[in-house]
Amino acid sequence: MPRTVTTYVCQNCGAQSRQFFGRCSACGSWNSLVEQLSAPPPDKRRRRVSEAVAEPAPRRSEAIASVGERSVQRLHTGFAELDRVLGGGLVPGSLVLVGGDPGIGKSTLLLQTAEALAQRESVLYVSAEESAQQVKLRWSRLGPAATGDGPQLLAETDLEQVLQELEALRPAVAIIDSIQALHDAELASAPGSVAQVRECAAALQRLAKRLDIALLLVGHVTKEGMLAGPKVLEHLVDAVLTFEGDRFASHRLLRAVKNRFGATHELGVFEMRDRGLLEVSNPSELFLGSPEGSVGMATIVACEGTRPLVVELQALVSTTSYASPRRMATGIGTNRLHQILAVLEKHLGLPLSRFDCYLAVAGGLDVEEPAADLGVAAAVVASFRDLALPAGTVLVGELGLGGQLRPVGQLELRLQEAARLGFRRAVVPRGSGVTCLDLAVHEAGGVAEALVVALGVNPADDA
Ligand SMILES: Nc1ncnc2c1ncn2[C@@H]1O[C@H](COP(=O)(O)OP(=O)(O)OP(=O)(O)O)[C@@H](O)[C@H]1O
Ligand SMILES: [Mg+2]
Repeated sequence: MPRTVTTYVCQNCGAQSRQFFGRCSACGSWNSLVEQLSAPPPDKRRRRVSEAVAEPAPRRSEAIASVGERSVQRLHTGFAELDRVLGGGLVPGSLVLVGGDPGIGKSTLLLQTAEALAQRESVLYVSAEESAQQVKLRWSRLGPAATGDGPQLLAETDLEQVLQELEALRPAVAIIDSIQALHDAELASAPGSVAQVRECAAALQRLAKRLDIALLLVGHVTKEGMLAGPKVLEHLVDAVLTFEGDRFASHRLLRAVKNRFGATHELGVFEMRDRGLLEVSNPSELFLGSPEGSVGMATIVACEGTRPLVVELQALVSTTSYASPRRMATGIGTNRLHQILAVLEKHLGLPLSRFDCYLAVAGGLDVEEPAADLGVAAAVVASFRDLALPAGTVLVGELGLGGQLRPVGQLELRLQEAARLGFRRAVVPRGSGVTCLDLAVHEAGGVAEALVVALGVNPADDA
């Protein structure tokens, strides 16, 4: 039997060594050495199932217009929310990586998807983390469909066994839960290490592309929230979805971070129940509090991909007892809050540097886009002045450092969503040129003007 030779290759400079070192002796970088198998002579090498294919004939290039087209029939996952995030359904032969915090519900989501898909297609669910009994227990709890036997189940961690089962069964969809728990016996490193994850994913990809199997891989995330394993994993797959949510709330958000077959930043909303995940088709209601305005509260319309979401913001401004005031924000970057407070101080003359400021986005949503700026400014000023914004008002606009309001994208879509939910007034940047029949649209050139329109009083008056 040929002896496999292990070498360690620096991912930074490419230097090779026969021994593992914490620091590369060539370039001096730390923790950059990754195990790799040096290829034995091809005739002696044991061939994987994934590689058991006849030598291809040499390929010639051709004009792009003459390339034959193949109509792609997307598979519907049983969840309209998941279909939307995938760009309209699962593409056969594609590789999708689903990442998320421990216990967030990745296995639940994929088992429910497997169950729905199994009604029409052949589906293999590979559980590398849990035993077959554990998966069966979850499957029974999720309330399986009355008809059919459900998906095929394989509880296995050995990569070769998984590849053989895929080759034998040739399912339309396969789910691997999780890629970090798979183990390639040819590598000496532990499951979950960079080399293992990369090799396992690459072997699965080769087989999936050859047999046209849509592969859904579960991936762990690190403490920092990044997908664990090598970055190449994210390049290798066609789509990267992240499943996130507040541990203390029951709703879960599914987002496409990368998608070769659809728009990114598309958002799917689910609710975790005892019988599994339930889709939320009207998520704005989830992020909206009481219809009556209260002090320090403002409503914005954020856009996640192509989906507008009406979201409530709350601010609390109180006298500081520290040398430097505290600024805390959940759901919005603290630096963004600092910037908005500085603009308000400079252009409205509000002495905010003597006040603590806390800001929260309702429902645990992360709002990254600058279109939320005007809403944040309104919530802060309303709390500072002890005012409530008139009920039924939404604010949309990006704040420039000079106090001007900048236009935002997809304004019409946002206002339509606000009107649909019963909002009657919108304050937007000047020059947007949007008229929404069911909504009074007020345009403002700067933050001071916008706040006068929104609050009905001039907040700078007795500052
Ligand atoms: N009986 C139950 N009733 C309600 N919710 C439950 C019940 N059992 C599990 N859950 C929910 O399911 C979640 C676990 O789901 P799941 O095992 O799919 O997560 P996961 O992301 O796959 O976790 P891991 O990272 O450990 O694989 C729990 O955090 C809990 O919210
Ligand atoms: Mg799991």
